[in-house]
Amino acid sequence: MTFTATRKPDPLPGPRHVAIIMDGNGRWATQRGRARLFGHHAGAKRVRQIVRACPDLDVKYLTIFAFSTENWKRTQTEVAGLMSLFRRYITREAHALLKEGVRVRFIGDRIKLDEKLVSLMDELELLTADNSKVHLTIALNYGGRDEVARATKRLAREVKAGRVDPESVDAETLARFLDTYFLPDPDLVIRTSGEARISNFLLWQSAYAEYEFIDTLWPDFNREIFADIVAAYARRERRFGTVPT
Ligand code: IPE
Ligand code: IPE
Ligand code: MG
Repeated sequence: MTFTATRKPDPLPGPRHVAIIMDGNGRWATQRGRARLFGHHAGAKRVRQIVRACPDLDVKYLTIFAFSTENWKRTQTEVAGLMSLFRRYITREAHALLKEGVRVRFIGDRIKLDEKLVSLMDELELLTADNSKVHLTIALNYGGRDEVARATKRLAREVKAGRVDPESVDAETLARFLDTYFLPDPDLVIRTSGEARISNFLLWQSAYAEYEFIDTLWPDFNREIFADIVAAYARRERRFGTVPT
């Protein structure tokens, strides 16, 4: 008697690390005749739902783009509204994130962020440091080029101090100096709102990521759409430069 004929093949692995460019909040609000900030608030509510969906979908790492190094170019009203939304989000969500086993970390340059926000970010990182069910990384004042430049600066200091031999520097060395040193590379990058561009998000880390660009605006994104994209990912073939076997 043999069981092999009836045994189902192992399911293909889903993405361990999903990164999301949460775009389209402004257009979502405009379509409703409301101010852009209304869309940002609706978008923040979606984050909660998507973080909660991760354990069921076997997504261990979720990285979300909340504010780019270029977003300072928006009106003062929008920037100030976003900063206040981030402060509120952290304050209100901290307890639930802790209880749900989410470890939160931030990437991006904190130097331009206000003191109050930075201390809330530090507190949330500390509060959730022992969690490991889901690793949520929030990119705030983040830009891929800026990150590589800051990493290079830190590495150059180590070289100058004689702690790193310049001849030993390779891609892995630089990766250790990036904001994302604690993260695996993203397997899947999703961008909502129909724009097919990266906008300076995880440039280095996404070298071999799969991309999914969808038309849905971020405030309309939901658990079902997320589950469908994750399932479609599992059907893709990643080659990493090799040939299919
Ligand atoms: C994404 O939505 C959120 C941030 C960039 C902070 P947008 O604000 O870019 O929304 P659209 O692209 O103008 O619709
Ligand atoms: C990217 O969206 C940044 C975030 C989602 C935080 P943008 O709306 O700022 O990007 P562009 O301007 O369309 O490229
Ligand atoms: Mg946008």
